[in-house]
Amino acid sequence: MRILVTGGAGYVGSHCAKLLVERGHEVVVYDNLQQGHRDAAPPDATLIRGDLLDRDRLRQTFEDHAIDGVMHFAALLNVNESISQPQRYYENNVLGSLNLIGEMIRKKVHRLVWSSSCAVYGSPSSVPITEDMPKQPISPYGRTKWTVEMALRDFSQNGGLGSISLRYFNACGAASDGTLGEDRDPEYHLIPVVLQVPLGQREKVFIFGTDYPTPDGTAVRDYIHVEDLASAHLLALEAIQDGQALAFNVGTGQGYSVREVIEAARRVSGHAIPAEQAERREGDPPELYADNSLIREQLGWHPEITDISDIIASAWRWHEKNPEGYED
Ligand code: UFG
Repeated sequence: MRILVTGGAGYVGSHCAKLLVERGHEVVVYDNLQQGHRDAAPPDATLIRGDLLDRDRLRQTFEDHAIDGVMHFAALLNVNESISQPQRYYENNVLGSLNLIGEMIRKKVHRLVWSSSCAVYGSPSSVPITEDMPKQPISPYGRTKWTVEMALRDFSQNGGLGSISLRYFNACGAASDGTLGEDRDPEYHLIPVVLQVPLGQREKVFIFGTDYPTPDGTAVRDYIHVEDLASAHLLALEAIQDGQALAFNVGTGQGYSVREVIEAARRVSGHAIPAEQAERREGDPPELYADNSLIREQLGWHPEITDISDIIASAWRWHEKNPEGYED
């Protein structure tokens, strides 16, 4: 198939674009390169520098390439930023998605995989989280993800659009062949921040909150390797059916605390990684991990890299080799 990958030069998008190419698909990457990196897009893909808010460019892309399906990653993803800049988040994430869906319907492209997030659940009353639990996002970011999911349900009826929303837990790790990794500036996600200490780019790491109702008092998350996310996208793409809008959690089903992540990073890097207690970060739920039985049953997916040390080791290999990230 010829697949349009929006945000295909970004972190998760580039790993999925790489897997698509490896599986013999033709890939057209559409990315404004504000957060993405030219070097992260697959060398065999067509790279179009474009923004989803640029409707002319988007339309031209669909005119120039006979697209069979879309993987849609292009979005803003900083939860804190979304609180101070809601308009930017709604424009990029919701309006951008509507522009894309509009072009898809116009060209009768009925196959869309949407990057949703566990943020749609907000602060759930219990874990593990199942897909049918209440959607009560606690940030504008989470609300934009949920708004698009709801729109996809509506379009599945009116437009016949088939879609699968994948609700990622905490994406992390790097490509096992060392070619791709996580490069964000500024970085704020736990694993890459922790690894900045052994890289000599940061003196210590702050633990945001040590009084959560969790076994060691620090927040618990489900760290899902980016290559396992990519395999979920491929299975989703193949499973989509016209007029059907489905949603699946994508997580390992296992939670690790902030302290456990730091401890694993110490083992992997051989560095002491000093850590200091700090206030809770606003809007952080105490504990999030997935019940992943639905995607296992319905798509036959399972995660391959689930041990936190293995996940961190894959990230560490990339950061050690590319301490300054991508060149371009
Ligand atoms: N943390 C620290 N110190 C740091 C960075 C993070 O203690 O320097 C903690 C956070 O407070 C949190 C955990 O590490 O408890 C993980 O934080 P990340 O920033 O890596 O990831 P989040 O869990 O905040 O974010 C993830 C996804 C978002 C999604 C959100 C839902 O990246 O897309 O979960 O809550 F919206």
